[in-house]
Amino acid sequence: MPLHLGAAWYPEHWPEARWAEDVKLMRDAGLTVVRVAEFAWSSLEPREGAFDFGWLERAIALAADHGLAVVIGTPTAAPPAWMTQAYPDVLAVNADGRPATHGARCHYDVTSERYLAFCRRIAEKLAICFGRDARVIGWQIDNEYNTVSYSEGARRAFQDWLRRCYGSLDALNAAWATAYWSQTYSDWSQIPLPIQGAHGFGQPHNPGLRLKWRQFITEAYRRFQLNQIEVIRAHAMPSQWITHNFMGFFDGFDHYVLSADLDFASWDQYYPAGHLDFARDSAGHDLTRGFKRKNFWLIETQPGSVNWAPINSAQDRGETRAAAWNAVAHGAEAVCYWQWRNAPNGQEQYHGSLIAPDGNPRPVYEEISRIGREFQQAGHLFDGATVEASVALLHSYDDRWALDFQRHHADFDPLQYLGSFYRPLSRRNIAMDILSTRAALDGYKLVIAAPHILDEAIAGELIRFVAGGGHLVLGVRSGMKDGNNALLRQRQPALLQDIAGAHVEEYYALREPVPIHAVTSGRRKRGATPALPDGSAHIWAEWLVPHPGAQVLMTYGAANGYLNGQAAVTMKPHASGGCVYYLGAWLDDALQDALMGWIVARAGVEPVLPGLPAGVHAMRRGEAYVLINDTEAKSVTLPWRAKDHLSGRTAKRFMLGPWDVIVATRV
Ligand code: GAL
Repeated sequence: MPLHLGAAWYPEHWPEARWAEDVKLMRDAGLTVVRVAEFAWSSLEPREGAFDFGWLERAIALAADHGLAVVIGTPTAAPPAWMTQAYPDVLAVNADGRPATHGARCHYDVTSERYLAFCRRIAEKLAICFGRDARVIGWQIDNEYNTVSYSEGARRAFQDWLRRCYGSLDALNAAWATAYWSQTYSDWSQIPLPIQGAHGFGQPHNPGLRLKWRQFITEAYRRFQLNQIEVIRAHAMPSQWITHNFMGFFDGFDHYVLSADLDFASWDQYYPAGHLDFARDSAGHDLTRGFKRKNFWLIETQPGSVNWAPINSAQDRGETRAAAWNAVAHGAEAVCYWQWRNAPNGQEQYHGSLIAPDGNPRPVYEEISRIGREFQQAGHLFDGATVEASVALLHSYDDRWALDFQRHHADFDPLQYLGSFYRPLSRRNIAMDILSTRAALDGYKLVIAAPHILDEAIAGELIRFVAGGGHLVLGVRSGMKDGNNALLRQRQPALLQDIAGAHVEEYYALREPVPIHAVTSGRRKRGATPALPDGSAHIWAEWLVPHPGAQVLMTYGAANGYLNGQAAVTMKPHASGGCVYYLGAWLDDALQDALMGWIVARAGVEPVLPGLPAGVHAMRRGEAYVLINDTEAKSVTLPWRAKDHLSGRTAKRFMLGPWDVIVATRV
C-alpha cells in the first residue's frame, strides 16, 4: 500500500463548476486520496426513497482523473430533515428526555430500529453503485460514533440485552448486590437507565448497572456498524476495505469490540492547543495501532487550527509536517486532512483547511505539498512495515469506566495515570504498544498493567508472561473488581498476589503529597542496584504488605500514621528471570521517571536509538528511523552513517532545525 496523503472533500458544498479547481490543486499538492460523502445524506437522498448519486459519481470521476483514490464515508452521522421530521423516533433523546433538535449532526438514536433500516438502505445503495468501482478503495462507516440516547427504545433494548447477559433476574440481582438500597428487580422492565447529576436526582446509580450500560452502548454501536458493514461487504469487491474514524482516547464505547469488525482502525487526531506534544500525540497512535495490532489510517487531522477549542491557535510553520511524520513513524498508512475547503456556511467556517473560500491555497497548503513530495520520495520505506515494540501498556475501557465512576480522588484520572507510565518511556524514545488488557503478551520484555477489573483470563496471561521471564509493572488499584464492577473477595491484587509478592493492606486518597524514600541497597535485604531517588506520592497511596521473597524498593515517610514506614513499591524476582514491580503509589513525575528508567534497564529494554538529545523524538518502522525535533535547533549524532531520505544527505551527524524531520536508513 502506498503512503497516502489525503483530505476530506465535500463537493456538495460548492457549485460543480468549482470542483475542477479543487482536484487540480489536490493533485498539485501530492494528495493521493480524498474522502467524500460523509454527512451528505440530504444530497444523496433528497427525499425519502429518491436517491441522487449522480453528483457523487461525477466527483469521483473527476478525482480519479486527477490520480486521486476515493474513500466513501457513509452519510449516517447526519440524518436529513425529511427523516427526522417524518420519523422523530430516529432522534436521540437526552438524559432529560428531550429529543435532539435537527440542525447539527450525530443526532440519531443508535438503538432506533427504524434508523438502522434507513442506514442499511443508503449504505446498500452506495455499495451497489460503487462497490465494484476500482476508483473507490475503501469505506468509512459513519463518523466518530459518540451520541448516547436515553429513549424508551434504548431502555427496552438495554433491558433485553441484560436479560441475554444474565439469563435471570436472580443472577443480575446477585451480581449487582441489589439488596443494597432496596434496588432488587422483580421484572426486567423495572431496570432504569443510569441518569444522574444535573439530569437525575443526585445519587449515582449502581456501579454494576453503570458498567453494563457502557457495555450496552458498545454493543449498540457494534450492531449499528455491522448493519452497514454487512450490506457493503455483500456488494463490495474484496479489495475495498472498511474502517471507522475513532477519536483516540475517547471512551464512549469499547474500541476493541468495534475494531474487531473493521479491516483496520482509523483515527482523527486534533491539536486543539495548536501544538504537538510527542508523548500525548504518539500515545494516540499507539492506542489506535493496538486496536487491531496493525497499522492504521490517520484519517483526519488539522491543517492549521481547529474551530472548537477555547483558543483555536494554529500550528507553527513546520509543525504540521512534523505531526504527519510522527503519525507515519507510529504506523499510519495515510495522513488525511480535515478539511480540504471550508463550506461557505455551516458550523465549521473557521476551521483550518488547505484551500480558502476564494479557491486559492492557504499558507499551510505549501507545507502539506512538501509532505506530499516527501511521501512520494520516502513512502516506500514504510511499505509493509510496522512498529516493533518490546514494551506493552495495557489499557481497558471497563477499567477506565469503573475508575471514572468512583474516582475516590477527584484527580484520579485513569488516562493521566496511564500517561504517567507512557511519558517516561516516550521521553527515552522507547517504542510501546498500547494493548487491551486481554491481549496475548508473547514477545514483550516489559508489560505495564493496572487491571482494576480482574478475572482469570487477564490474571492468567500476566502470570504466564512472568513465568516466561517477562518483567511486569503493576500499578495502583489493580485487582479490585470483577466483571460486574463488584468488589473481589480477595485483597488486592487478588489473583495476582502470588506473582506480585505483596498485597494491599489499605488504600488512601491523598489530600497532600506523602514523602517516599527509596530503600538503599544497604538497607534492602538482597540485590544491589543503582540508587533510586526519594520523592513523593500524590493522589493515591496503597500500603503494600510484602510477602516472603519480595523486596521493598520504596517506603512511605511520615504520613497519616498508617502509611508511615510501610512499603510503597516492591519487587518480586522470579526464578524464570521475570520480575514483578508493584507500584503501590502514584509517584511524582520525577520519581516515576527515575523508577521507570531503572525498571526498563533491568528489563533489558532499549531505546530506538541511544544518545539522542532531549527533545528529539525517534521511532523505527521497518528499516526507517524517523527523527523529529522539537522547537530548539540541535545536532544529532547517529551510531552509524545514515541516509536521510528527505534531504538526500548521507552522514552520521545531522543538524535539526525547529520541527525538523529526518527519515534515515543505515548505510
Ligand atoms: C472531527 C469530525 C470532523 C470535523 C472535525 C473538526 O471530530 O470528524 O467532521 O468536524 O472534527 O475538527
